[in-house]
Amino acid sequence: MELTPFFVAGRPTHGADEVTVHHPYDGRPVGRTTLATAEQVEAAVAAAAEAAASAAGLPAHARASALDHVSRRLAERTEEIAALITAENGKPVKWARAEVGRAVSTFRWAAEEARRDSGELQRLDTDPAATGRIALIRRVPKGPVLGITPFNFPLNLVAHKVAPALAVGAPIVLKPAPATPLSALLLGEILAETELPAGMFSVLPLPNERAAELVADPRLPVVSFTGSGPVGAAIRRAAPEKHVTLELGGNAAALICADWSDDEDLTFAAHRIATFSNYQAGQSCIAVQRVYVHEWLYDGFVPRLVAAVRELRTGDPTDPLTDVGPLVSTDAARRVEAWVDEAVAAGATIETGGRRDGANYPPTILSGVPKDAKVCAEEVFGPVLVVDRVENDAAGFAAVNDSAYGLQAGVFTHRLDVAFAAARTLEVGGVIVGDVPSYRADQMPYGGVKGSGVGREGLRSAMDDYTDPRVTVLTGIQL
Ligand code: SIN
Repeated sequence: MELTPFFVAGRPTHGADEVTVHHPYDGRPVGRTTLATAEQVEAAVAAAAEAAASAAGLPAHARASALDHVSRRLAERTEEIAALITAENGKPVKWARAEVGRAVSTFRWAAEEARRDSGELQRLDTDPAATGRIALIRRVPKGPVLGITPFNFPLNLVAHKVAPALAVGAPIVLKPAPATPLSALLLGEILAETELPAGMFSVLPLPNERAAELVADPRLPVVSFTGSGPVGAAIRRAAPEKHVTLELGGNAAALICADWSDDEDLTFAAHRIATFSNYQAGQSCIAVQRVYVHEWLYDGFVPRLVAAVRELRTGDPTDPLTDVGPLVSTDAARRVEAWVDEAVAAGATIETGGRRDGANYPPTILSGVPKDAKVCAEEVFGPVLVVDRVENDAAGFAAVNDSAYGLQAGVFTHRLDVAFAAARTLEVGGVIVGDVPSYRADQMPYGGVKGSGVGREGLRSAMDDYTDPRVTVLTGIQL
């Protein structure tokens, strides 16, 4: 098995210590790479700092054509990349293909935004003293970006850091998740095919403990992190003077409102919730974890949900028919198992589920779960769903809000007034009406409140995040 290179200032290279990436399903080795040395990290950061001024001046066509190239190459290599994502992450190949498709559109959107971005003209002659003045407002990069990405979307969450950085003309130094570096390295290979200047990107495999040296480096004034709450909080504490974007966890809820009551509605909601509490074995920050059902629908809904979950096909993630594969590691599955056991010991009932087998944990539904049990209160990041009944829609909103997190919520209602009440009341970054909280279009603002983080991704939002407005006031102008 060949050693996969990583990228320092756009050039492929190897480091000192070798690491092997294993398939979460059967443990077989699927790739080998090396860790960047301290000297290579220094070279990457120095090159990013050095490139910053010229990168900020790159014409829109140069940025956009590089981004278009990446989008096109990802599309051309979809099957190969999907297989790689499945191999290193364990997600079923049908979800891996979907992830590649999303990354194709993430880069395409970035190219479109790069072309569209002309700044803004503001008239100042609204005041007699400013007659003849106008302001030109353009956004300029804050400086090189440090992107730190998680294992659960090893390509598309990398794309969400890299594409907006390149779109605004900011160099990026990327540290992919140690468990899943291969997709990011393949993206590096595609980026290296572009005409982007040296220093514009580096992809550095590093253990998590070595992220601190990058976070502390003043030459990387923007830190964009996706991962766990405690690590996010530590980054914020370590770099109070930096611009830090944190996409952290969630325990996303879906609410079945009183009007979502006919057979077709309930069956639809049951299938959507079953699918999106278990896609990628629940390892998504917006996987459905809590379901609140209006009390007069509860007894009819839960059997449908149980049936829909039991229909999911589990097993080998390389099988295109598999819905639910392994978690990223046996340790991750053991933690999920311990949390379920804890809930059961506290009085919860298992409506469906089974026993852990290595890194595989079966799709599980729990009822009667105490609110403070970890499977309810914390981010389970596994294929586990908690169901409960609520008296009315207002009680449902309160239950959704009774969380330390606030990423997205799904509200099943046909009523516009209820939809707007949800949008007004729910303490989250996004409310999805008529569907699960797991819905995400890559161009839309995405991020959370409370323990779910600060800042927003989605191309336009991240581009705003990586830049500052710069105002040029022109005098003697008559509009
Ligand atoms: C996440 O886990 O936060 C990303 C979810 C997604 O991009 O669909």
